[in-house]
Amino acid sequence: MPTAAIVGSGLIGRAWAIVFARAGWDVRLWDPHRPTLADAPTLIACECEELARHGLVDDAAAVAARARAAGSLAEAVDEADIVQENGPEKLEAKRAIYSDLDRLAKPDAILASSTSAIVASRFTEDLPGRARCLVAHPVNPPHLVPVVELCGAPWTSPQTMERARAIYQAVGQVPITVRKEIDGFILNRLQGALLAEAFRLVEEGYVSPQDLDHTVKDGLGLRWSFMGPFETIELNAPGGMADYCARYTGFYRRLAADPAPPEVYDPQNVEKILAAWHGSGSPERIAARSEWRNRRLAALAAHKASAPREP
Ligand SMILES: NC(=O)c1ccc[n+]([C@@H]2O[C@H](COP(=O)([O-])OP(=O)(O)OC[C@H]3O[C@@H](n4cnc5c(N)ncnc54)[C@H](O)[C@@H]3O)[C@@H](O)[C@H]2O)c1
Repeated sequence: MPTAAIVGSGLIGRAWAIVFARAGWDVRLWDPHRPTLADAPTLIACECEELARHGLVDDAAAVAARARAAGSLAEAVDEADIVQENGPEKLEAKRAIYSDLDRLAKPDAILASSTSAIVASRFTEDLPGRARCLVAHPVNPPHLVPVVELCGAPWTSPQTMERARAIYQAVGQVPITVRKEIDGFILNRLQGALLAEAFRLVEEGYVSPQDLDHTVKDGLGLRWSFMGPFETIELNAPGGMADYCARYTGFYRRLAADPAPPEVYDPQNVEKILAAWHGSGSPERIAARSEWRNRRLAALAAHKASAPREP
């Protein structure tokens, strides 16, 4: 049975554990914060039951039973074919964890980091095993949102990239390859472009934050749940993408010449948006809404799984 080690068993680590366990892998969890490690199997079991309610796993108990807490980092990684690192989003932490992982994991184990924004070359350069290291950036939560951005450092071997791609595909994810390192990888650059414009439009009084959200959840986002922006524009002009570009890029050029500036994130604008929103939200509200989001994502995943195969 292939084995995955989950190093850092917080929000993202637990979700990765479900991804691998659901695909039949043995999963070894590790976290230096003992209460987090102790709670992880129960939280994973609860989420597996939620998946079963949506028909996304057949046997929730069997899936959950495959994810077990290890007694040490060494025990977590010693049998692992892939290590998924989900520690704190701090460069020094990634450096320290990777130094341990490269020393403790089998020589042919892949060392993949969930980091959102730190490229692998910043924390793997000095490692003897740096050719087997890469970033595998998920979207929260990866057991319900399948895309994973694979981005190697300049020294990551092509074999590592190929093996990683095959592994993530085999466990039901949708890997994409980021061909060279770039700040924010792909997904957060796209999200950042949209977010900056959203902050600007609210700041300048064009729209309320609620109506802006409607524009995405009841507009753009409906198509985006099954097609990307290129396919969207291909279908938005009778002659396809070239026709669309000929018709509309004059307008997009004007927009691109005047991008939202960094100041849209200044504290006074954040305050303004919060005042028009419903404040910062209590931890209880955030937790309840996160559970609601996961239930909606599970229903969407079930719907997508039941759809006929794409032409
Ligand atoms: N939350 C998101 O939306 C999201 C999305 C994509 C990627 N990520 C990335 O995933 C990683 C984890 O984020 P998270 O949201 O799960 O954070 P989290 O705070 O929920 O979990 C981080 C865990 O790392 C543990 N930890 C601390 N020191 C450690 C060490 N030396 N070795 C191993 N584990 C250690 C902590 O105890 C904690 O449980 C980050 O790199 C983050 O950027 C997060």
